[in-house]
Amino acid sequence: MVPQHPPPPPGLRGVLESPLGTVIFALGRQYEYLAFNGDHASTMKQIWGASIILGESMLGVIGRADDREKARRNFDRALSGESFTLVEEYGDELKDRRVYENVYRPILADDGSVLGLSVYLSDITTTRPDPPELDRYRTSLEDLVVRRTQELELVHAKLLDAQKLESLGVLAGGIAHDFNNLLAVILGRIELAAPLVNRESPVWEHLEIMRESAIEGRMLTKQLLGYSGKGKLSVESVDLSELLRSMTPLLRASVPGSITLEVLPSGRAVVAKLDPIQVRQLVLNLVTNAGDAIGPRPGQVTVRSTVVEADDSLLEEACMATSVTSGPHACIEVQDDGCGMSDVVRSKIFDPFFTTKISGRGLGLAAALGTVRSHRGTILLRSGVDRGSLFRVLFPLIESP
Ligand SMILES: Nc1ncnc2c1ncn2[C@@H]1O[C@H](COP(=O)(O)OP(=O)(O)OP(=O)(O)O)[C@@H](O)[C@H]1O
Ligand SMILES: [Mg+2]
Repeated sequence: MVPQHPPPPPGLRGVLESPLGTVIFALGRQYEYLAFNGDHASTMKQIWGASIILGESMLGVIGRADDREKARRNFDRALSGESFTLVEEYGDELKDRRVYENVYRPILADDGSVLGLSVYLSDITTTRPDPPELDRYRTSLEDLVVRRTQELELVHAKLLDAQKLESLGVLAGGIAHDFNNLLAVILGRIELAAPLVNRESPVWEHLEIMRESAIEGRMLTKQLLGYSGKGKLSVESVDLSELLRSMTPLLRASVPGSITLEVLPSGRAVVAKLDPIQVRQLVLNLVTNAGDAIGPRPGQVTVRSTVVEADDSLLEEACMATSVTSGPHACIEVQDDGCGMSDVVRSKIFDPFFTTKISGRGLGLAAALGTVRSHRGTILLRSGVDRGSLFRVLFPLIESP
């Protein structure tokens, strides 16, 4: 016996006729048709060969047992109050079996009780990607997720590094600043006391030693201030090739005679806006470290100035958090065939006071980092145990001096 339902008011019937080709129908709690549009009637004809009427059970029209069971499950979910969307196949294979994207929704009365359910279907048989294509999509999506996750982990690690360096910078800068003031007082008092003392007196010698130590202390605090980015910058256009040429005698003197030091300035000017005093100190630190890494045995240190085209893969070698973007950069390279670094050493080289040397202070690279940061540059590093090291320091390039 087909339950009797009044057909929708004639005006509302037009609402069901979707100009977008969406198939719409509504069922009551016994799966009986409450309403449907013309597209649904012709779909049922097409895939089941059935003519449908209001009030009859839709399940009775579905000609395949598995499709019927599937439909009943979905109807029951919607009748329990759930809204959901599924991509599913329906239809008699001998007639037409098609793929639909079906949106199921409960029909609720004003008091919230479920009166029935409505279904909105789009036929996606011809527009959905075929299974091999879906597989390809899935594989490339999975690859993308893996790649993005690795990138995120890298960014996260660099961020942690940056935060660590930031707080060390604040700490070191604060201490250095206060010590600098104290040292200025000590030096000032020594200058005042010295003329009052006879040069032959042992007190004079004490004062001299105090003065030398205080000056040494001031150099240390200067390095710490450089690391924290609080050092004063005195910037001008500097040709790095010229800077290397002028430093060659000093650099030779800073490594043992058993080491071959090659200074190879680029044939062209490599100009950047720099504080030349800070950058000279940086080059000296890198070359001294290169010499230390080789030790007393014969070895080779090469220092170059070049223009490098930084791209994403090169910038992955950056060993500090950096805002440097792709493009040409002024570069100073220091390469050695010394002991190289393990990953553990590598992760600590910029920490103030980190050293693996008996007489090292662990301040050379910390200061170098401060210098590079305040010049908005970056440091790229390739190094491996017993494979030597290559430091490349990048600065923003100025094309013409
Ligand atoms: N070219 C290099 N090859 C191998 N290890 C290096 C190299 N450069 C730096 N290191 C490592 O990084 C550490 C820190 O270097 P950094 O210049 O900051 O301090 P240091 O050389 O130990 O002391 P100093 O303050 O006297 O320069 C070194 O102790 C060393 O372990
Ligand atoms: Mg050093």
